[in-house]
Amino acid sequence: MEEPRIIQLPKISDPRGNLSVIEELKDIPFKIERTYWIYDVPGGEKRGGHAYKENQEFIVALSGSFDVILDDGKVKQTFSLNRSYNGLYVPKGMWREMENFSTNSLALVLSSTKYDADDYIRDYDVFLKLVK
Ligand code: TYD
Repeated sequence: MEEPRIIQLPKISDPRGNLSVIEELKDIPFKIERTYWIYDVPGGEKRGGHAYKENQEFIVALSGSFDVILDDGKVKQTFSLNRSYNGLYVPKGMWREMENFSTNSLALVLSSTKYDADDYIRDYDVFLKLVK
């Protein structure tokens, strides 16, 4: 199984402003089927609280900062995202939560599958049974 990890993206530094880029199957290990973003998160709110059976994700803090907590059913890891040239690869089958959003933070999420409500596991006990 693939491991979650921070992937450093190409950064083209320029006095006119920096530029970063993501190419599917090159900078990230999947083809992009969907893109969404999370913004205007009120202070103290959490997002996520589910796992996907198949969907893989790549999450970038385009602006501001937030934490992503990944749990494989045995070990919980917290990844702090606060640079627009770093992203977190989230393999399928991990319980994932997002919290500590800074004011005006913007989370870009690239997904390997189209939206499918049936791909979600929203009950933590069901998740634990599935990963055992
Ligand atoms: P959800 O994935 O539960 O958000 P989060 O994990 O950040 O709490 O999605 C919230 C709502 O948005 C839910 O009703 C499903 C809907 N949604 C879509 O319609 N399409 C999508 O691609 C996503 C990610 C969510």
